[in-house]
Formats: sequence, structure tokens, C-alpha cells
Amino acid sequence: MAAEMVEVDALIRRRLASQVALINQISHYIISAGGKRVRPMLVLLFSQALGFRGSERFELAATVEFIHTATLLHDDVVDESQLRRGRGTANARFGNAASVLVGDFLYSRAFQMMVSVNRIRVLEVLADATNVIAEGEVLQLMNMHDPDLTVEDYLRVIRFKTAKLFEASARLGAMLAEAPPALEAACADYGRGLGTAFQLIDDLLDYEGATLALGKNVGDDLREGKPTLPLLVAMARGTSAQRSLVRAAIEHGEVERLPDIIQIVRDTGALEATRAAAGAEIQQARTSLALLPDSEHREALLYLCAQLMERSS
Ligand code: IPE
Ligand code: IPE
Ligand code: MG
Ligand code: MG
Repeated sequence: MAAEMVEVDALIRRRLASQVALINQISHYIISAGGKRVRPMLVLLFSQALGFRGSERFELAATVEFIHTATLLHDDVVDESQLRRGRGTANARFGNAASVLVGDFLYSRAFQMMVSVNRIRVLEVLADATNVIAEGEVLQLMNMHDPDLTVEDYLRVIRFKTAKLFEASARLGAMLAEAPPALEAACADYGRGLGTAFQLIDDLLDYEGATLALGKNVGDDLREGKPTLPLLVAMARGTSAQRSLVRAAIEHGEVERLPDIIQIVRDTGALEATRAAAGAEIQQARTSLALLPDSEHREALLYLCAQLMERSS
């Protein structure tokens, strides 16, 4: 996909253009830091797996990356994060106000771009996705510092804040190719499974990963008192002493307790349990691909499943 992704990046750069210097500066700052570009890849792989090769695929690939980047700008303000894609976050570098406003610029630019492909269902899917992402981030805000959060409510948050955009990206690829409803639904299912697994692994890496590889600080989730699956499992399986420690860390956002919490998360098997939960989602995603005709693009979608389970960045 390398050549295709070069085209996406070129289009992203063209579409970032603004008359306002600070917008150009900040948007280039975050976009040029890289990122894995997984969501645009889904648009390209699904559209081509189903036989569509029109240039709209690049427009929508860039659109979903803009939406994603807008959510990151806002998310890093909300999470008070300092590191993203191996650089200081935009909020650390330019301040919260500028980050929020440039996030709004990227969102609205994404809407200009999706209108340009002139398909009402594309607007419907992306309007719904951005709305659900916002709901997910607000739901998560309401769950902060709550050690009694259920696994079900945790999963709801990650399906909303992360899986929804993966789902929309896959669906858009199918829609461009005018896939019949059952096939489009299968593509969307793949996106939802992959996206859910992606966030589960992200939450795992916040305890198991390395800041250098991730390009963002490990321990951010604990500092915020985010009750993610590794902590929920650790509390369910731990001794009462372990449970009390994790509860207190969530309630008070005790990032200074990170080494102890990592130990507990390891000892209780919570890392393996989180990886297994991601594995189950990935298995579902793989199954959804059964309806797709055989092609190198379908192979790539299977390969993405394997890569995601092993990611460290
Ligand atoms: C980060 O997404 C936000 C999450 C959903 C965990 P990515 O890990 O896709 O971020 P980049 O684009 O590669 O930096
Ligand atoms: C991802 O959530 C943000 C969105 C999907 C909007 P996180 O807060 O867990 O992501 P990172 O860890 O900051 O990348
Ligand atoms: Mg965050
Ligand atoms: Mg995270």
C-alpha cells in the first residue's frame, strides 16, 4: 500500500491549507509527526478489495484521518497529555486554546471534504461517527475515577470513542464500491472488531508498553484515574490488598503508584486477559472477511489483524 499511502499524504497536505498562519503551523506540526494512518488504510483496502479504484477513495481516506487528528488534538487537551507521536503535544507546545480551535478547523475541513464526494450516505455515516465519538469521550469523562465501572460500560466507551471511526472507515470503502447491504455490514463489522481490539491493546500498552516506542507517555491513563480493562481485571482477580491499592489509584489518579500497579496488573494476569479480549474481537473481525472475494487487499486486511495484536507503537 506504500504508493497509495503516499498519495493520501500528498492530499492531506493539500487539504490542510488555510489562510491563517497559526492553523497551518499547528496542523502541519501534528500531521507531519506521522501516525500509523490505519483508518485511511481501511478506506483504501476495502474500496479496492471490492473493486473500486476512483479518486474519491483518497478524499475519504484523508477525511477520516482529519477527523481522527481532530479528536487527538481535543483528546490531548482533555487528558492533559504531554507527548504524542514522539513529540510534545500541540497543547504542550501551543496551548489548550489553539489546540481546541485547530481541532475544530480539522473537523470542519473534514466536513468540506466529505461533501465534495457528493454522496448523501457518506455524510450520514460520518456525521453519525463524529457524533458517537463525542459521546464516547464525554461518557469516558463521566467514568473517570470510578473503580466500580463495569466491563460492559468500559466496552461501550471504547466502541464509541475508537471503534466507531474504524467501522465508518471500513464502511466507506464498501460504500464507494457500492457493495450490497450484507457485504457492507460485514465490512463495518470488521472495522468495529478491529477498532475495539485496537483500543484494548492501546489500554494494555499504557501499562505494558514503552514510552519511546509508543511516542506517548505510559501511565497517562492511571494519572487520570481512567478505569481501563487491565485495572478492572486486576481488581476482579486480585487479593483484597491488591484491590484496595488499585481502587485508591483510580480514585486519586496516583501515577506515582505506577510501578506497584504494573506489578499487580502483571501478577493477576490482567495483561493476558486484556490481550485475550482483544484477540476475541480480532477473531470476529477476521470472520467478517469471509464474504469478501479473494484478493491481495483482503490478505492485507487479515495481515492487519495479526499486526495489531503485536503492535508496540
Ligand atoms: C490513537 O490512535 C488514539 C487511539 C484510538 C488509541 P492511533 O494509535 O491510531 O494514533 P496515530 O494516528 O497512529 O498516532
Ligand atoms: C483515544 O483515547 C482518543 C479517541 C479515540 C478520541 P485515549 O485517550 O485512550 O488515546 P491516547 O492514549 O491518548 O492516544
Ligand atoms: Mg488520550
Ligand atoms: Mg490511551
